[in-house]
Amino acid sequence: MTNIGIAITGSGSTTPELCLDNQGLSQIAETSDDWISSRTGIRKRRLAQPKESLCTIATQASLAALAQAQITPIDIDLIILATSTPDDLFGTASQVQGELEAYRAVAFDMTAACSGFIFGLVTAAQFIRTGVYQNILLIGADILSRWVDWADRRTCVLFGDGAGAVVLQAAERDRLLGFELGSDGSQNSCLNLSYQPQPKQIIAEVTVSQGTYQPITMNGKEVYRFAIQKVPEVIEKALFRSDITVDKIDWLLLHQANQRIMDTVANRLKIPPEKVISNLRNYGNTSAASIPLALDEAVREGKIKQGDIIAASGFGAGLTWGAAIFEWGFS
Ligand code: ACO
Repeated sequence: MTNIGIAITGSGSTTPELCLDNQGLSQIAETSDDWISSRTGIRKRRLAQPKESLCTIATQASLAALAQAQITPIDIDLIILATSTPDDLFGTASQVQGELEAYRAVAFDMTAACSGFIFGLVTAAQFIRTGVYQNILLIGADILSRWVDWADRRTCVLFGDGAGAVVLQAAERDRLLGFELGSDGSQNSCLNLSYQPQPKQIIAEVTVSQGTYQPITMNGKEVYRFAIQKVPEVIEKALFRSDITVDKIDWLLLHQANQRIMDTVANRLKIPPEKVISNLRNYGNTSAASIPLALDEAVREGKIKQGDIIAASGFGAGLTWGAAIFEWGFS
């Protein structure tokens, strides 16, 4: 029988060593530990130093995921790197492939901001379901500290850096039970890391745009409203497609943006707090890395066990949002 189901067989993660707590942050921006922790739940974040790159942290997380899945880099058919902060705008996935010496694999970047991991999971699943690939490495990694305005207290308190990865493998029984994705470009201006054009005349009558990317801007209230409306809705749709009820969920695994968002979503779905996975107090919002980072920690702590059902949901810039319901492991 052809294996065209999907199993998630390994996870790995890494965060930079350098840690900045709220106290430290209040020395550079007009803020306080009390404001940040009461409004967001965040207490500290890890920041990449200049010697670190997206490629190095993505590679470290990948090696841990491959080890847990008990496969080698040469087994990988496809590498998808979900990121908004590549080392190279042409793509960083190929560099990761080179570092891993995963010479059989094709590699590409994918951008869907903080929804990147969920969009990547669904994309990877299509390649397995069509029988094209058997072993896929999916990475969510971001270094948003590169693009934060460290003088803007409305945004600099929220973000941190990190990488998480999972291995997806073809299996007889499909553990991706259902998913739902969404985008709304009409609300794009709520959250941006956008290119600002700068006219440059190269010869008479030929002017091109040679600008640069500007630091992150965000309308926090609008993003908050969007998240607490769309996330419960998209999870309910994904549950419907999975043909399971909310009480069957073992773990709610949301993009780690704000504890208040997680609590509100859990409350709306009537999921008790003990089923909510949360680690943002230690890392802040690590964008595409946040879901695989929290997943990996919960797996390694022994919280998530083989056969557990996880409802995962990402949301963020775009605007984009999505949910996937999956069973952990392959037993
Ligand atoms: N420290 C102290 N005061 C602050 C800070 C700070 N870090 N930031 C804002 N304030 C002040 C504001 O200036 C404002 O003061 P004012 O009333 O005198 O004008 C007051 O605190 C309230 O500010 P609000 O913006 O109204 O605060 P709010 O309660 O909305 O909380 C927050 C802000 C935490 C950002 C919240 O809106 C939120 O979490 N939104 C969702 C953000 C999010 O999840 N973004 C990530 C999306 S993922 C991605 O794709 C990257």
